Amino acid sequence: MALENKLGIENSADLAREEEKISKKKAMELFENVIFDTMEAGRFSSLKAIHKYLFEDIYEFAGEIRKVNLSKGNFRFAPLMYLEVALENIDKMPQSTFEEIVEKYVEMNIAHPFREGNGRSTRIWLDLILKREIGQVVDWSKVDKEDYLLAMERSPVKDIEIKHILREALTDEVNSCEVYMKGIDHSYYYEGYTTFKTEEL
Ligand SMILES: Nc1ncnc2c1ncn2[C@@H]1O[C@H](COP(=O)(O)OP(=O)(O)O)[C@@H](O)[C@H]1O
Ligand SMILES: [Mg+2]
Repeated sequence: MALENKLGIENSADLAREEEKISKKKAMELFENVIFDTMEAGRFSSLKAIHKYLFEDIYEFAGEIRKVNLSKGNFRFAPLMYLEVALENIDKMPQSTFEEIVEKYVEMNIAHPFREGNGRSTRIWLDLILKREIGQVVDWSKVDKEDYLLAMERSPVKDIEIKHILREALTDEVNSCEVYMKGIDHSYYYEGYTTFKTEEL
């Protein structure tokens, strides 16, 4: 069964395909939109705006904090009860060095504020912080999807692997739409892995 959506699609494979198409188109538009340049990098408000922009034509919950607990593999993301406090604390985390920015990204992934689409919206959010603060972004085409997922799974315990993977992929091409778009390939990071299920608690 597919997640409830505005498109009236009931099959999850069909939804995944349509969702990817629409969110990519929206991501491209966002990159060219002035609102992207005026966003406050590193704040939840900007992630919320990115998520809303990407998914507003697909999900009622676009830009809205989830109302269910979520887990993937063996990892439980922030319990609903602590989610808002967690987001306030993440807002205050420093972001002046590469290390600090990735640490902030890891915490935002642990928060996983939305019901769906956290990966894509948070990678754009990460790139925006990197671009503003250190003048570089991640070239996602240089990031192996499996290495990335393993490093993200490991990141709540140890962030050394994700830091290594992202540092190796840094580029000065901050205004390249192509580099930016690679981060939102849903099929690249999709949930087809057996260890990668979303469960509602
Ligand atoms: N076991 C895990 N532990 C921590 N983070 C994970 C785990 N599995 C996946 N992730 C992160 O969650 C993201 C997927 O979240 P999701 O809300 O489904 O976003 P999207 O639909 O955009 O892919 C992945 O891209 C990865 O960053
Ligand atoms: Mg997903």
